[in-house]
Amino acid sequence: MNAIELNIWTDLCGIDEVGEGEAKAFLIGPKRLCAVNDGQNFFVVDDLCTHGVAYLSEGYCDTEECVLECPLHGGLFDYRDGSAQGDPAEKPVRSYAVLVEGNRVKVKL
Ligand code: FES
Repeated sequence: MNAIELNIWTDLCGIDEVGEGEAKAFLIGPKRLCAVNDGQNFFVVDDLCTHGVAYLSEGYCDTEECVLECPLHGGLFDYRDGSAQGDPAEKPVRSYAVLVEGNRVKVKL
């Protein structure tokens, strides 16, 4: 393993910092990320909606449909891959690879 591979994971939060079925925002430098705990896995996407100025972490997290609902206009995003799933959202939000190591959630930025 080389030095670059050693540094790809950035610590985001503890596994107990995001409740089951919840989404929560975290800041890493200039990035505001939305972490989702669906009860089995953690997922991380950009928190800012691509339709307007609203944070997905402040909307509804539906772990049955695997979507985040934007609190401003109700756009839907699949938190597993960031894809837009419902009007007026058209552009995806960026999604990030996640690694759970021990009790920490790490993200590849
Ligand atoms: S700002 Fe998110 S759907 Fe409009």
